[in-house]
Parts: sequence; structure tokens; C-alpha cells
Amino acid sequence: MKKRTTKPYDVCVVGGAGHIGAPLAAVLAKKGYRTLIHDLNRQAMDTLAAGKMPFLEEGGEAMLKEALAADMLGFSAKVSAIQGVPYIVLTIGTPVDEFQTPVLRVLTDCVDLLLPYLSDEQTIILRSTVFPGVTDYLHGYLRERGRKTLVAFCPERVVQGLAIKEIQSLVQMISGSTPEAEESAAKFFSKVARKIVRLTPMEAEFAKLFCNTYRYLQFAAANQFYMMTTAAGLSYARIRAGLMEDYPRMRDLPGAGFAAGPCLYKDTLQLAAFSDNQFSLGTAAIQVNEGLPSWIISRLRQQYALKEMTVGLLGMAFKANSDDARASLSYKLKKLLKPHAKTVLTTDPFVQGDKDLLPLEEVIRRSDLLILCTPHAAYAKADLRGKPVFDLWNFFNK
Ligand SMILES: NC(=O)c1ccc[n+]([C@@H]2O[C@H](COP(=O)([O-])OP(=O)(O)OC[C@H]3O[C@@H](n4cnc5c(N)ncnc54)[C@H](O)[C@@H]3O)[C@@H](O)[C@H]2O)c1
Repeated sequence: MKKRTTKPYDVCVVGGAGHIGAPLAAVLAKKGYRTLIHDLNRQAMDTLAAGKMPFLEEGGEAMLKEALAADMLGFSAKVSAIQGVPYIVLTIGTPVDEFQTPVLRVLTDCVDLLLPYLSDEQTIILRSTVFPGVTDYLHGYLRERGRKTLVAFCPERVVQGLAIKEIQSLVQMISGSTPEAEESAAKFFSKVARKIVRLTPMEAEFAKLFCNTYRYLQFAAANQFYMMTTAAGLSYARIRAGLMEDYPRMRDLPGAGFAAGPCLYKDTLQLAAFSDNQFSLGTAAIQVNEGLPSWIISRLRQQYALKEMTVGLLGMAFKANSDDARASLSYKLKKLLKPHAKTVLTTDPFVQGDKDLLPLEEVIRRSDLLILCTPHAAYAKADLRGKPVFDLWNFFNK
């Protein structure tokens, strides 16, 4: 893949074809930074180079096309392309492993690849969500290898799907492992974000993890309230609506629903790992949120002869109006349900690459029972043919 011109780049987004990297790259280009995307995923880079977002991102495609037309965005599969680019923003995935602990190796492996092309004049901005202490660790890792490259941590806090808007409207947390690194990152982001706030790297690492974990705890509270009230034969949605009526102190109480996806669970685990697995609130939240699919099956087994029924799952993405099926609880439900039902059918209007997905109408027609897993707006108008629906979200308001 070739660069379009020989004009120098201001910034390279490493992992720039991913969910966080791609919208960020488009916004950076719009803000006047000539931006290079470097990613291991050539197919996703080709899609972007053709002016298409590899996933749903509101306003993403228009901004991408604009950046390409203005020659503000380039692509390279070669890591050597980072040479001489003043800012390198890392947006690679930061997963947890089979022991449910963070995999630092993905970051050091990435830095090892960059190392031959890094100079002391560059700034690495870590944007992936990391375990507390990782930014300073990477600073030391580079120093041990003879590089004085500045290292900053400026976490991403957007909600997936609305990144284009939120990158520009949210407050950006800035931190650096030295005052020069913090200053360099502040200079970079003052052109992009509405406002910046400065923290130390450890503070910013905790702050980002707290944002995701707190959301996860809130969802767990709602889901536990839901299970409790349902067991009592009551509607959580009705109770919630009643208690929220003109009562602003409870405006943050979420409705029930699957709390999943690539971030919330993983980041709760990162905090748990940091606190020597003594994060009891976090582990309780995981138990509640991850336990919801099997709780649903238990309830349905009490009500229906599932073994004789075809069950249709509506929505396989991890959240509404998204095409992202990563760590979606719909798939956990599908897997757990299979031994208990005659057949399990699945549908989703956005998810790509799942050969089992069927058209919505077919799933509704063939199913004896439906479970609304993901409340995509498109389902509001669906003709459910009077079939019974298990509606955890109270989406159909029945
Ligand atoms: N998805 C979200 O909503 C969200 C929100 C805030 C923060 N984050 C954090 O952002 C980070 C990225 O998440 P994501 O959802 O964009 O992941 P993603 O998997 O969609 O994107 C990561 C990209 O990095 C690329 N990559 C991996 N290793 C590479 C390497 N060594 N060199 C070049 N490219 C490489 C992958 O090919 C992929 O395209 C994670 O730390 C995540 O926790 C995600």
C-alpha cells in the first residue's frame, strides 16, 4: 500500500483501522493534521482507503471521504512509515488473557516493532485503555532500549458509534510520563478536543478504568433489581419509571439489558487484577451481568417446553444500532440455549460475517418464542406476528 504523496505526516495512528483508531484518524485529518494510518489489518485499511468505514460510525464515512479528497489521510502497512512522524498515537487492542489479567505483551510487542524507527524527537501517545502503571512502564521500557521518545497517555472515552462527534466535544484527559511529554500531548490535543484536563499517568489510567467500570456497576445494579422484581412478579420498568418521575437524583439508574462488548467487562477485570483480585464490587457486577443469559434461560424453562420450541434471538451485536458483535452476550445466550431448545435461530440487521444469521422475517415466522437480545431501533416496527417475546429491555413497552 503506497502513500498518496510525499508530503510529511504530522501523526501516525498505529491501530488506525480499528474501532477507536479509524474515527480518530478521520477527526485528526479534519483538524489539520496530515494523518497516516498504520495497521496490521490490510483489509480494513483497504476499506478505509476506498472511503468506507469498516464498521458503523455516525458521520464517519463523510469525514473519511473529505480527508481522502484533501489528501490529509494516508495508509501504510509498513511500520517503517512511522519514521520521522512527530506524533505516534497507539490505539491497538489491550485485551485480558485466559487468566483474566491484562496482556502487557501486546503493547511491548508493538513498541518492539516501532523501536527501530523511533527517535528521541517523537511523542508516543498511548490511547488504548491500560492497566495502572503501564505508561510509566513503557517510558522505562524505551529508556532501557536507548530511546528518549516522549510517552504520554491520553485515553479515549467516546461511546463507540458516536466517536466522530465525541472526540471533538468531550473533555480530553492528558498525562505524560515527563513534563515534556505532557506538554507535547497537550499541544497536540488542544487542536482536537473542546477542553483538556491534566492528570498524572497513573491518575489518568485509573480515571479511564473508573469511567468504564462505574458504568458496568450501574448496569449490574439495574440488572440485579430487574431479576429481583421479576422474581417477585413485578415489572422493573414500571418501578423504575415511577421512582424516576420528577426525581433527578435517580436519573442515572439504567434500565435492564445485556451489559457487554469489548470494553466494560475487560476494564472491570483490569481493575480487579490491579487490586489483587480484591475488587469485590467489580466481581459481583461481572457475576450479575454475565449471569443474565443463564438466568433468562432458567426463567424460560419454567414457563415453556423449550425442548419442543424454536427460539429466535433478535439482535446479535453487543449494543443497539451497532454492528459490533465482540463479546456480545447474545452469543453467550445462543450457546447456553442450544442444549435446551429444539432450534435456536438468530438475526441481526448490522452484524457481518456470521453465516448463521437469517433475515428478521424468517426468524419471526419460524420461531415459537422470541428473545430480544439487542434493542436495535429497526425492531420497533417489526411485525412479530403475535409471537411471545422475552423483552428484557422493555423495548416493546408491554
Ligand atoms: N471500542 C471502544 O468503544 C473503545 C472506547 C474507548 C477505548 N477503547 C480502547 O481502545 C483500544 C482499541 O480498541 P478497539 O475497539 O479500537 O480495538 P480494535 O480491535 O477495533 O482495533 C485495534 C486495531 O489495532 C490493530 N493492531 C493491533 N496490533 C497492532 C500493531 N502491533 N500494529 C499495528 N496495528 C495493530 C488491529 O489490527 C486493529 O485494527 C482498546 O484498548 C480499548 O479498550 C475502546
